[in-house]
Amino acid sequence: MKKSMLLALVAISIISCGKKEEKKDELYPENVAEAVSSEDQLIADGKKLFESNKAACFSCHQMDKKVIGPSIKEIAKIYKEQNGDMVAFLRKKADPIVDPSQYNVMETNFAILKTMSDEELKSLEAYMMSTIK
Ligand code: HEC
Repeated sequence: MKKSMLLALVAISIISCGKKEEKKDELYPENVAEAVSSEDQLIADGKKLFESNKAACFSCHQMDKKVIGPSIKEIAKIYKEQNGDMVAFLRKKADPIVDPSQYNVMETNFAILKTMSDEELKSLEAYMMSTIK
């Protein structure tokens, strides 16, 4: 009698543990997606790329303070003031305007930047410029 009760309990617990949680559908209402403008999307993509291990821009560029490279805001400010073409710089088609004396340090990144699409470079630019808006 006792033994069969125990067995029943064990059986019940096994069955309930085996039940998998139902996966909920991801909720993403269309109106929310539409509210995110393409510019915001570009900035978000750029931020993600900037902070990714692939690009590793953040390891030398912090938001407000100079580490190895000038801060993101410093770069954005100078590009805005001088109406610089950041994508051209990242494509190695324009000269440095922020800190030319340290250009050789930045130069090490052109190998990875070369593998990125125009869209990706535009997103990096959009993100960096958005920090001083
Ligand atoms: C190894 C450190 C290092 C990494 C990693 C790095 N940078 Fe730089 N970056 C620098 C230094 C140092 C400068 C200052 C020299 C200069 O102005 O060219 C600079 C300058 C810049 C400038 C200003 C260029 C100008 O006109 O003078 C931009 C834009 C920039 N970096 C973007 C990026 C992006 C985007 C990434 C990621 C793909 C990146 N950097 C990764 C070190 C780095």
